[in-house]
Amino acid sequence: MHTAHLFEPFTLRSISLRNRIGVSPMCQYSCEEGLVADWHLVHLGSRAVGGAGLVMAEATAVSAEGRISPSDTGIWKDEHVGAWRRVAQFISAQGAVPAIQLAHAGWKASTAAPWLGGKAVDPQNGGWRSIGVGDTAFTDGYPIPRQATSEDIDRICREWRDAAGRAIEAGFQMIEIHAAHGYLLHSFLSPLSNRRVDEYGGSFENRTRLPLRVAKELRDILPTKMPLAVRLSCSDWMEGGWAIEDSVRLSSQLRDLGVDLIDCSSGGASPIAKIPVGPGYQTAFAEAIRRGSRIATAAVGMITSPIQAETILRSGQADLVFLAREMLRDPYWPARAARELGVSTAGMAPVQYGRAW
Ligand SMILES: Cc1cc2nc3c(=O)[nH]c(=O)nc-3n(C[C@H](O)[C@H](O)[C@H](O)COP(=O)(O)O)c2cc1C
Repeated sequence: MHTAHLFEPFTLRSISLRNRIGVSPMCQYSCEEGLVADWHLVHLGSRAVGGAGLVMAEATAVSAEGRISPSDTGIWKDEHVGAWRRVAQFISAQGAVPAIQLAHAGWKASTAAPWLGGKAVDPQNGGWRSIGVGDTAFTDGYPIPRQATSEDIDRICREWRDAAGRAIEAGFQMIEIHAAHGYLLHSFLSPLSNRRVDEYGGSFENRTRLPLRVAKELRDILPTKMPLAVRLSCSDWMEGGWAIEDSVRLSSQLRDLGVDLIDCSSGGASPIAKIPVGPGYQTAFAEAIRRGSRIATAAVGMITSPIQAETILRSGQADLVFLAREMLRDPYWPARAARELGVSTAGMAPVQYGRAW
């Protein structure tokens, strides 16, 4: 039997992952009133059974207004805690670390699930008035938001904090702040979307103010032993947009605030950005931030083969690899990767399935 970086444990604060493989957050658009039920138990539970070290629940709204669609998961009220606890407990019982991505959709809120067209949902059909960095729509067919006032921003910070408190109560062992893909926090960061003239717009300091405030609010209430991650869109892939140099600078500030991991995604600020999607297309961002900001990073984006994942880790480009669509195709990817890399699958597949591995 060989050893592989992919299957070395990794520790963030007091939380130890059994390997370097994470299930990337993936919206399922399968809830009512934000309440998770059997679908999420089976969906996330299967991936924990499949051997991942970290299983991250999807973009979960910190307020009803911050949902992408009416069927998003939520954690804005105490009723959500018990529903999530059942999922988090099952993930833990399978030996994976349960994590949750907290989110506010901003100007991309009140839209339909992708398979229903993804465009604006009117209030008559279960939608709501969205709130944005400004008062323009993301693109044609999206809702026109109300621009967030400074009182709204204070309230939104409290909502993030309360949501994180509920996530802790539900048994999640790590929280990720969604500051990517054009949603609220990224829309403040990007000069393409942020045209504000107050203390939240203009300079780098002003555009980063809200995401830094949210990170600080969360770090203040999280137990010292609990890691905090931030997902960034490391580049807008557009002239005049947010760039990797900005992400390196912000990641250093996040590190100083007590953030432990940067999850390195990209895009989402502009519908016309040309993104060179291909195998490992975002991995260089994870490397730039890991080296430039001296913080742990996760690489994500078209990582599909075990040898590709192993190379990313072995060459020091990232500390973790997150997989999304490949995990939908194959929840047992970690156990399969162990076999392909000649590593023992002990502790990865459940005893009930031992005869298969
Ligand atoms: C069905 C689906 C839902 C997604 N939902 C989220 C989400 O909730 N939060 C997020 O940050 N990214 C989301 N993403 C992006 C993925 O986490 C991931 O970054 C992206 O798909 C690239 O990784 P991949 O090539 O391994 O799929 C979603 C992707 C898919 C396919």
